[in-house]
Amino acid sequence: MSEKLTKLKYPPILKDFPHMIYGGDYNPDQWLDRPDILKEDDRLMELVHINSVTLNVFAWKALEPEEGVYTFEWLDETMDRMARNGKKVILATPSGARPAWLDRNHPEVLRMNADRTRNLHGGRHNHCYTSPYYRKKVWEMDQMLAKRYQNHPALGMWHISNEYGGECHCPLCQEAFRDWLREKYHNNIEELNHAWFTGFWSKRFSRFDEIESPAPQGEHAIHGLQLDWLRFVTYQTKNFMEQEIRAVKEITPDLLVTTNYMKYAGLNYWELSKSVDIVSWDSYPAWHETNRSDAKTAAETAFHHDMFRSMKKKPFLLMESTPSLVNWQHVNKLKRPGMNILSSIQAIAHGSDSVQYFQWRKGRGAEEKFHGAIIDHDGSEHTRVFQECKCLGEFLHKCDSLRGTNVYAKAAIIYDYENRWAIEDMNGLSQESKQYERTCIENYEALWQESIASDVIDMTQPLDNYQLVIAPMLYMLRGDIAKRMKQFVEQGGTLVTTYVTGYVDETDLCFLGGFPGNDLKQVIGVWEEEIDSLYPEDRNSFTWHNGDLPKKTYSVKDYCAIVHPLENTEVLACYDDDFYKGMPAVTKHPFGKGMAYHIAARTEVEFLRDFYKLLAKEISLESNFPFAEKLPDGISVQKREGDGEVYYFFMNFNSIEQSVLLKETIVLKDIESGEQLEGNKICLQPLQVRIFCSK
Ligand code: GLA
Ligand code: ZN
Repeated sequence: MSEKLTKLKYPPILKDFPHMIYGGDYNPDQWLDRPDILKEDDRLMELVHINSVTLNVFAWKALEPEEGVYTFEWLDETMDRMARNGKKVILATPSGARPAWLDRNHPEVLRMNADRTRNLHGGRHNHCYTSPYYRKKVWEMDQMLAKRYQNHPALGMWHISNEYGGECHCPLCQEAFRDWLREKYHNNIEELNHAWFTGFWSKRFSRFDEIESPAPQGEHAIHGLQLDWLRFVTYQTKNFMEQEIRAVKEITPDLLVTTNYMKYAGLNYWELSKSVDIVSWDSYPAWHETNRSDAKTAAETAFHHDMFRSMKKKPFLLMESTPSLVNWQHVNKLKRPGMNILSSIQAIAHGSDSVQYFQWRKGRGAEEKFHGAIIDHDGSEHTRVFQECKCLGEFLHKCDSLRGTNVYAKAAIIYDYENRWAIEDMNGLSQESKQYERTCIENYEALWQESIASDVIDMTQPLDNYQLVIAPMLYMLRGDIAKRMKQFVEQGGTLVTTYVTGYVDETDLCFLGGFPGNDLKQVIGVWEEEIDSLYPEDRNSFTWHNGDLPKKTYSVKDYCAIVHPLENTEVLACYDDDFYKGMPAVTKHPFGKGMAYHIAARTEVEFLRDFYKLLAKEISLESNFPFAEKLPDGISVQKREGDGEVYYFFMNFNSIEQSVLLKETIVLKDIESGEQLEGNKICLQPLQVRIFCSK
């Protein structure tokens, strides 16, 4: 079967709803005393072309005002209203925030902080995931919702809780943690002692019940303990989430479930993703910063979209975003005209089948009253934001045919949460400049600038289908990643690694016998003997011969690893300065049918861009749009495919007009205007996005 035929469109995510989803968080429970406003919502939703709403996030108190007293009528009415209006409902389980009676009756639900102080009632996202009482109450509530609405025509899918996160250190969680450890270490305390290197500072444990979760006033010096604690927190959160999923799936087995992620919540989302049907996330980039171009922000946002898509390798949902501004950034700047459409379609370009906002209508009071919304306090459609949302609604209406198509990448960046935890916790390097995620994003950005599609994966994911795998700062090698990296290169893949690779195993024990450990030295072709951390103002440099272009000198900052080439390793560039002047900074090592490149120092993005551009050419790694002459900076082209259709997204993140020149004339249809592309030039206004289809 040809590759084109295997790329089928995915089925609709919302039940019986084969459309691009346009909607967001709707909180009628906050407006029950204003039927006039609820009525107006109907009119305005129609006007703005919203076809879906997310209901019931944080509405527990409105459903169960006192323990065992239920008031579902408002939700019944809202569900009916949505069905009448032809809108789908993404129905949330309300476990993200609790009514006061719940904490009053059972204080064990109140989360305990790392310093062992117990929270008071308040805020949200602050319950104990272990508490049997909380689990019972959530189970009952979720089942009640599922039973009540299982056959409701508006019900499209489940939104499980909201942005799970945080950790609880209460006695119940301590017990659960110890049980988790007993299982992991086969009830053998010596196995744990070995894994955590507890000979250090007299830390050897005699019994599992001597172990406590990390605390600022207690144990925080055993890295293996810290890592296992974070793994346990993910495990316990996932376990809680799975219970919620079971509660609704028992009654509605055919409805899909998701839970909304954030950019980073300290959880290993790859683990949670195994238990949801669809990945969704809440994206709130800070556009229009003074010291950062929108193109840079776009690259970073694209990295996260690609990571969340990669978790299931199929379409995801943009669950939340703001149509205008947020109220929690350092400076809450408005999205400039055009940016809401551009950033929303950017999510779609990277694989989202929705654009959804937090929130439909600005609240009258409390913490989020000045957070962006489609409807402002003036309550009308006569705002810039509403009108732009309406334009986007019209545009999305024309995007239905690309729903269910997917992005197919031949390059992957490994960005691994557990590796992040280990790097952040490590004592060493330079505390301020470790910047693991930033480093991954900078490598990604170099490919993004060339409009080369990338997956962003963790180290448990298969590597076989890629031509290029980039693994920046892969400090920790867990599972069989070293073996799979070796096979990948042996079989013809191209691997790029950097300084700080292969130092420790999964419990943070250093590999003996030289870094990169676990047999990776023979693949990468270098031995890293030492690493130099630079002061923020320090610079070194190296000079690299970039293919046919003249030699160029690149600045080096933060980290310079001192590496020795092994047999057959070609040195591509050497340090220009310091006592390691003349030693390798960039190397290349053939292994099996493939090639391993190693970048021993932290460079500016400029080097990464030149390096990956040449590398992509050498290994024939195609861009998303190979028909263009050079793409101008700040223009990104993404591609989605399915059922033989190909969609190209041209996005201009610059504040000036740009054009893309084509090498040849090709048949492309602009899906917004419906017109065929004329000539050999694609023009893009500032912050404009255009989608073209080719069959
Ligand atoms: C998160 C939450 C929402 C809201 C927004 C504000 O994404 O899920 O409830 O608080 O942030 O940006
Ligand atoms: Zn707890």
